[in-house]
Order: sequence, then C-alpha cells, then structure tokens
Amino acid sequence: MKFTTILATALAAVPLPGTMAHPKMQEKIEELSARAYNYDDFDSNQILGDLRYLNWWQLSRSGSDIKRILQGTGNPQNRDKYWGVPRLQSSWCKRDTCCVWKYIADDLEVLFRGDSGRCSKWARFAIRMGFHDAATWTLANENAGGGADGSIILGGELTRRENGGIAAMGTKYQEIYQKYHDTYGFTDITYADLIQMGANVATVVCPLGPRVRSWVGRKDSSTPSPSGLLPSAFSDADTLIQLFMAKTIGPDGLIALLGAHTTSQQNFVNASRAGDPQDSTPGVWDVLYYQQTLGKAATPERVFMFPSDINLSKHPRTSPAFQAFAAPGGQGLWNDDYAREYIRLSLLGVNNINKLTECTKVLPQPVSNWDEPEAGKMNKWLDSDDYSQKSKDVSWDVETGSYISVPENKIPGYTNTRPRRQRNKWGGFSW
Ligand code: HEM
Ligand SMILES: *[C@@H]1O[C@H](CO)[C@@H](O)[C@H](O)[C@H]1NC(C)=O
Ligand SMILES: *[C@@H]1O[C@H](CO)[C@@H](O)[C@H](O)[C@H]1NC(C)=O
Repeated sequence: MKFTTILATALAAVPLPGTMAHPKMQEKIEELSARAYNYDDFDSNQILGDLRYLNWWQLSRSGSDIKRILQGTGNPQNRDKYWGVPRLQSSWCKRDTCCVWKYIADDLEVLFRGDSGRCSKWARFAIRMGFHDAATWTLANENAGGGADGSIILGGELTRRENGGIAAMGTKYQEIYQKYHDTYGFTDITYADLIQMGANVATVVCPLGPRVRSWVGRKDSSTPSPSGLLPSAFSDADTLIQLFMAKTIGPDGLIALLGAHTTSQQNFVNASRAGDPQDSTPGVWDVLYYQQTLGKAATPERVFMFPSDINLSKHPRTSPAFQAFAAPGGQGLWNDDYAREYIRLSLLGVNNINKLTECTKVLPQPVSNWDEPEAGKMNKWLDSDDYSQKSKDVSWDVETGSYISVPENKIPGYTNTRPRRQRNKWGGFSW
C-alpha cells in the first residue's frame, strides 16, 4: 500500500495533542516517514532474485520494470492489447514468445468465466494454485528450493493436504501442457509459467479483478518444495504475519493478497458447510469481503469467515489495510496493491527475473462493472442455513459460475428457530 494511506490511517487512529507529539508517536511517524525500505514495516520493498546483484545499467526492460514494481513505484497493472496475433501453427508464432500464451490464455478464459459472468471454481483453484506453488519459499532458506517453479505439479505436491481442494486444476494444466508443449511443440512452455499466467488470467476474468502485469520465462523444478510453509485457517495473526514476512511479504501485502477470498467458497475448513462463500458475492472481485470480515457490512447466515481472516482483521499490524480496502475508494487501491503484491509472490524463488519476457497483452481485458444478474436467488440462498440437496444444487451452480438453475421459490429459506448469528466455534461467525 502507498505509504500515505498508512500514515493517514496511523494519524487518524491517534490524534496529535497540539503540535507536541508523544515521543512514541513521534517515533512511529519517523519510522513511517523514513520507510527504511526493509520489511519490518507494513510494506515490503525488498528486491528479489537476480535483481539483487545487477546494476541499473545491466537491467533489461523486464528487469527494470519489475524492480520498480517491487520497490513500490511503477505500474503493476495495464491494459496492453495484443495486435496481430500470429496463427498458432505458423513460424511467426514460434518466434514470438507471447504468441502461444495468447492461445493458452483464451483456452483458460473459457474455463474460468461462468455463464452468469461470475468466475468459476477453476478460476479460484488457479489463483490459489499460483499462491501455493510460489509461497513454499522463504528468504532465509532460499537454497532449500521452493518458489514459483512448477513443483506443485512436477514435484507431486498436489497430494499434500493443503492442496486437496485444488488438485483437479493440476490435471487441467497437464492437458494444456500436452496440447501446446508436446503436440504443437512450443518447448519453452514451463509449468511454472503456466501456473502463474493461469492465476493472472483467472484474476482478471473475475468481475472487478485487476489485470496483473505478467511475465514468462520461469524455470521448472521437479524437486518437492519444503513443507510447512503454507498458512492454516486456524493460525493466529502473529503467526501468519511472521510466515509472510519470511517470504518478503509485509502485513499490507498479506492483506492485499488475502482479499482473494472475496471470490471463494470453502469446502474443507468445515466440510458440513461445503460451498459456503467467504463473502456475499462469491466469484466477484469486490471489497465486500473486507467490509464483511470487519463486521462493517451486514452479513447473511451462509457467509463463512475463516478464523484466521477474522483474527487478521483485528490485529494492529493488519487491520489498517483491512480498513483501507473496506473504505470508499478501496477497490482501486486494493486492485493496485493486489497486483503489485501478486507480482512479488509470482517471482519468489525466480533467479532469472532479468531474462523474463512481459506478456500482459495476452490477458483478457478487465470487467470493471458488475451487477448481480440474479440477486433474488442469490440472497435467498445466502440468507439460509439449510444444507439439503436443493441448497447444495445452488452452491454447485455458484461454484461453476453458471446461472442458478433452482427456481427461486424452490430454494430453501432460513429454517432454524434460534436467533441468527449465534452459530460459532468455526460453524460460522458473528462479531
Ligand atoms: C493467511 C493466509 C491464508 C490462509 C490461512 C488461507 C486459507 C484458505 C483456505 C482454508 C481456503 C479454503 C479451502 C477449502 O476449504 O476449499 C482458501 C481458499 C482460497 N484461498 Fe486462501 N488462504 C490464505 C491466503 C491466500 C492467498 C495469499 C491467496 C491468493 C493470492 C489465497 C487464495 C485463495 C483462493 C482463490 C481460495 C478459493 C479456492 C476455492 O474456491 O476452491 N489465499 N484459503
Ligand atoms: C487471535 O488469535 C489468538 C490466538 O488464537 C487469540 O489469543 C486472540 O484473542 C485472537 N484475537 C482476536 C482479536 O480475535
Ligand atoms: C461446522 O458447521 C456446523 C454447522 O454450523 C457446526 O455445527 C459444526 O460444529 C462445525 N464443524 C466444525 C468442525 O467446526
């Protein structure tokens, strides 16, 4: 997040007594103003990979663009278009690095965009897989491997517990790899790139999602990443903040990335509530997730908040970012911060950043307006605490991004007679 926002938040929280600031407060302001550009602050500006050892004059276009983005300047999104895409089976396509990625992005878009306009579970699997491939990395132990290297598929990590929910996406990527790498002979394609390009296609397909600048050229590894580096939904905020700082992701960056839960529908945190979303608009990239998790917007019965998300929304290091994204104007701020932080995430463990090629132009254009096309059905489902087959049918249609096929008068309503918003201990949250 831009430092001005954080400073404003910090100042708003503690009114200055006249011109004389309290010594502690003065210290905080100085710390924030200095922005010592290290990651014990709210934001990380750490440089990654080979960029750490190169001088400005040695940087390629990609290298200098990425360096600026990692340092908090530069633009992490754009709307570049791809003019004159060569035919797939032409020598032009083989010579243009981005060409095959345009065809791959188009195939993925079909999988990710549901008929209703909402993004599908495949989009969410892809976003989460981008995270789970890249985040198995820590700076202090960078030689242990991990990072955005395709090992989630090639190293057999999809059988790990934390990847149970997204393993099916691995099969989809294998099909795409076979089609374009093996059959059409685009031998530069790596799983590492496929997974990160896939995540960025998915993000921009979700209505209101950012168009994250995207590079290709990562190397694959079939060595399984170190385990124990991915977060649990039952961890407390301090543990999670430390876990992400070790990956060069500061508290603001963590909260920007965490907002991906605006699209999701959990299945395993509480299996008896499979399909329950993490805000009222699953499949839509809006800031309602931040507002509802903070308790600033009314939250229907079916919205299921992770204990970790609630804990982070209240912690002094992470609540400022929650507040900023939930506030008016938060959408634009969040999209930019998410894009910047996702670029960082997608480059963890990548040591040839200076040799990457930008292919943002292959991504679909963003969807910048969203009106829920079937609000009546959606609200009835969200307001209900029913888990019969009819409700599951609705959850399933929402998962696939389809229109809801159950007629509104057949969607079960609220059944319980006890007062609402009491259910708790991970059965769902009130505040
Ligand atoms: C504190 C950090 C995080 C924790 C504890 C966490 C935990 C979880 C859990 C438990 C689920 C639900 C899985 C299921 O039951 O199906 C989930 C879903 C998801 N997470 Fe996270 N997550 C975290 C951060 C992130 C980040 C950084 C991203 C991406 C940038 C992300 C993207 C997603 C997405 C897209 C889903 C939805 C997957 C689906 O719909 O199947 N999460 N996360
Ligand atoms: C966050 O989690 C910790 C550990 O479980 C707990 O002690 C603390 O009270 C929680 N904080 C909030 C604000 O929920
Ligand atoms: C899951 O949710 C149900 C329904 O709210 C609740 O009764 C149950 O205790 C929860 N299960 C777990 C493991 O927390």
